[in-house]
Order: sequence, then C-alpha cells, then structure tokens
Amino acid sequence: MNILIDLFAILVLLMVIYLLGRPIVRGAIYFPTSHVQVDLMIRMASLKRGDVMADLGSGDGRMIIACARQGIRAEGYEINPLLVFLSRRDIRRAGLQDLATVRWKSLWRADLAPYDAVFVYGIPYIMDGLRRKLERELRPGAKVISNAFPFPDWAPLATENKIYLYSIGPKSETVAAA
Ligand SMILES: C[S@@+](CC[C@H](N)C(=O)[O-])C[C@H]1O[C@@H](n2cnc3c(N)ncnc32)[C@H](O)[C@@H]1O
Repeated sequence: MNILIDLFAILVLLMVIYLLGRPIVRGAIYFPTSHVQVDLMIRMASLKRGDVMADLGSGDGRMIIACARQGIRAEGYEINPLLVFLSRRDIRRAGLQDLATVRWKSLWRADLAPYDAVFVYGIPYIMDGLRRKLERELRPGAKVISNAFPFPDWAPLATENKIYLYSIGPKSETVAAA
C-alpha cells in the first residue's frame, strides 16, 4: 500500500514539474493580464466585428472571451491543460462557443497566417524568436499587441501603460500603421 502512495506522490510531483516547467522553457509562466489591461489591449488593437485574433498563451481565456464578447473571432493557444479546461468551461458558460476557441497546443506550432491580430504576454527571452515567427507568418497589416514586453528591433506604433502595439509591414519590415 505504501508503495502505491509513493508512486502516486511521484506521479503528482512529475505532473506539477511538467505543468510548471514546460511554460518556463517554451514560453512564459501563467500570470493573468488584469481586466483593465485586457480592455486597453483590445482598444489599442482597434479590431472590428468579424476580425480574427489569436492569444498566444491564452491562460484562463480572459482575453479571447473579452474579444469574443465584442464580436471578434478569438482563438487561444495554451499548453497548460488545466487552463485549457478552465477557459473552455468559461467560454461555454458565456455562450461564446461560436466565436471563441482554445487549442491545447504550443504557440510555436500555431499557424499565424489567418490572424488579423496577435496578442502576446510573453517573457523577454522568447521575444526575439517570436518576432521572427510573427514576421514570417503574419500578413502585412496584421497587428501585434504585446503586454509588458516590447519586441526587439520593432518600433511600436503606440505604447500605453506597458502595452505595445505593432503592425506588420511589407517584406518583414514592421512599421507603424496609419
Ligand atoms: C503570462 S501568461 C498570459 C495569459 C493570458 N494571455 C493573459 O493575458 O491573461 C502566459 C501563458 O502562456 C502559456 N504558455 C507558456 N508557454 C506556452 C507555449 N509554448 N504555448 C502555448 N502557451 C504557452 C502559459 O501556460 C500561460 O498561461
């Protein structure tokens, strides 16, 4: 019996290491954006109904739920299965299944081509790699909104309360949109 308890404890420990460790290695740890910042990010992105946005590392889904409430098609990528479960539950509770989706998938494996805007709350050591992925995959004119951390080598179109707004320019040149 004791050996079963030990094995269970080891299993739980491994799961905790996996859930906490993977985001640290492949992205950022979970730290939710405040609702004030969520509203600011959406306002700065100035999206309209029918636009499609992605939140890379969507946490508890608050960003995609807030976008979907405004008629924006919102897709989250999240590697923590617990957060995927909670955000899917909240999407259902809000009746937003037609507009909001969460994928249990690494942001590094997401195809970003369809998105009009990409929201990011990362960590400094992923920003350069992420910048290259965004430049490669997003179409010119697509917007990138970053919470807390600016992208190296990109000039923001606007900055407010540590939110940085960018627009993808032609030929990988990222410029301020009009
Ligand atoms: C700082 S939190 C931001 C959560 C949410 N976007 C918000 O603004 O409230 C970063 C999130 O990214 C997730 N994450 C980290 N690495 C990831 C990866 N490679 N792919 C997808 N999600 C990742 C974490 O689990 C965490 O939920």
